[in-house]
Amino acid sequence: MNTSSLANTFSGRLITDVADMAPFVTDWRKRWFGSAIAVAQPDTAEDVAIVVRWCAAHGVPIVPQGGNTGMSGAATPDAAGSALVLSLARMNRVRGIDALNNTMTVEAGCILQALQDAAREAGRLFPLSLGAEGSCTIGGNLSTNAGGVAVLRFGNARELCLGLEVVTAQGEIWNGLRGLRKDNTGYDLRDLFIGAEGTLGVITAATVKLFPLPAAKITAWAAVATVHDALNLLQVAQAKLGARLTAFELLTQPCIDILTEQMPHLRWPLAATQTQAVLIELSDAESEASGRASLEALLEAAFESGLVTDAAIATNITQSREFWSLREFMTEAQQRAGKNIKHDISVPISRIADFVEQTNAEITEKFPGVRMIVFGHLGDGNLHYNVSPPKGAVGENFGVIEAAVNHVAHNAVNAFGGSVSAEHGLGVLRRSEAARFKSPVELAMMRSIKQAFDPKCIMNPGKSLGDFA
Ligand code: FAD
Ligand code: MLT
Ligand code: ZN
Repeated sequence: MNTSSLANTFSGRLITDVADMAPFVTDWRKRWFGSAIAVAQPDTAEDVAIVVRWCAAHGVPIVPQGGNTGMSGAATPDAAGSALVLSLARMNRVRGIDALNNTMTVEAGCILQALQDAAREAGRLFPLSLGAEGSCTIGGNLSTNAGGVAVLRFGNARELCLGLEVVTAQGEIWNGLRGLRKDNTGYDLRDLFIGAEGTLGVITAATVKLFPLPAAKITAWAAVATVHDALNLLQVAQAKLGARLTAFELLTQPCIDILTEQMPHLRWPLAATQTQAVLIELSDAESEASGRASLEALLEAAFESGLVTDAAIATNITQSREFWSLREFMTEAQQRAGKNIKHDISVPISRIADFVEQTNAEITEKFPGVRMIVFGHLGDGNLHYNVSPPKGAVGENFGVIEAAVNHVAHNAVNAFGGSVSAEHGLGVLRRSEAARFKSPVELAMMRSIKQAFDPKCIMNPGKSLGDFA
């Protein structure tokens, strides 16, 4: 495919050199390797529209890409080499903040952390928060409907978005940047693009919700004997702290082993490492003192009742960051430890401890020696239910059991009324697994939506379920 007509328009912003394209055609885990005819780097929605129209005219598939931090291979082109990667990274301007309306309008390529900072400078909180926030983009967050560590209080990316600007698969610009909390004028088009993994159109900008900045955040690690105890603690914490409870994250014991092995510079703050633990964060609107008193009271009562066996409350912001690092470096620690099979499951919160107990038993019986690396957003009923090779094993051939492990784990998820992708999306990694549990009527509705929005099937083909055969 000759890209010279595009190159004229996108002088210096169209990469065609194979070496220069390399970072854009592989995912960060180096699990998927693709190739592309070019990487286009637009500066404006009009630029995006030009690229999309060119691709539509030439039948070239488009792979939108933000920070390329996704977990499911959704931002990587396939190996055919016929697709164009559309990087939104240069579209990184904050278009405006309406403090009174508690909204911010931003371009799709804005890095999440930059948006948190921009909101803070305006005296507001943008609460979306995840380990990749220094590199992921808001366009990618919305396209994956990202979750992260504050969903318990503020919801997923979807709940934080009021309006979108989108370039359609026909190359038209839809300005849906409405800052409205209530709008019942027909089908909710915004919600179709959120979580669509770039398969329906390109998000070029978004209007997102802002919140008051809390006066203080207090962070604690609490050791619990079982996931059942963690769940009971969650219930008590919700009853006592209400909306002030902003995070409730679980690390099961093997995760603490991996962290202390792979990241020895991180200090584990509790006496025992042979335990599981939850990271609790409370955000207080009043003061540091009132927040601290509430969290102390909660943990003391939980200790006395035997629900918690040990706890440490961060004494200052530096220590709070250190506490969070233990949770946030979990992904990298597992990556360093070698091959692993990732799951991103959710079940009703009430059933999650039973799910872990029963499914761990089933998997370790069927695949002797594997380690269950289970961690994540317990407060949302969402765990990264990962499986690693036996300790000390190189794990090079571990991938051969992946499909069989997925089968067992996801059948259990289904039996518990859950989902095989809580927050990472389907991409190429989980689309066939997700399709196993969708009814024909649900798959048919998804196909109709895809057909209506992208009849030529140029938007990120082969990802998610709209074109699943
Ligand atoms: P990319 O990876 O570039 O793309 C992801 C998908 O969105 C692809 O389908 C792509 O085609 C599409 N896309 C990107 N931009 C656009 C656009 N403008 N228009 C249309 N489609 C687009 N995820 C969570 O949900 N919760 C977590 O807690 C979490 N923690 C993480 C921790 C680490 C250390 C890492 C590396 C990742 C983590 N992730 C997490 C996964 C990842 O960060 C998120 O999925 C993130 O939302 C992806 O954003 P991105 O900009 O990197 O998107
Ligand atoms: C997390 O919660 O840390 C992530 O979603 C990343 C992971 O699954 O490793
Ligand atoms: Zn997560």
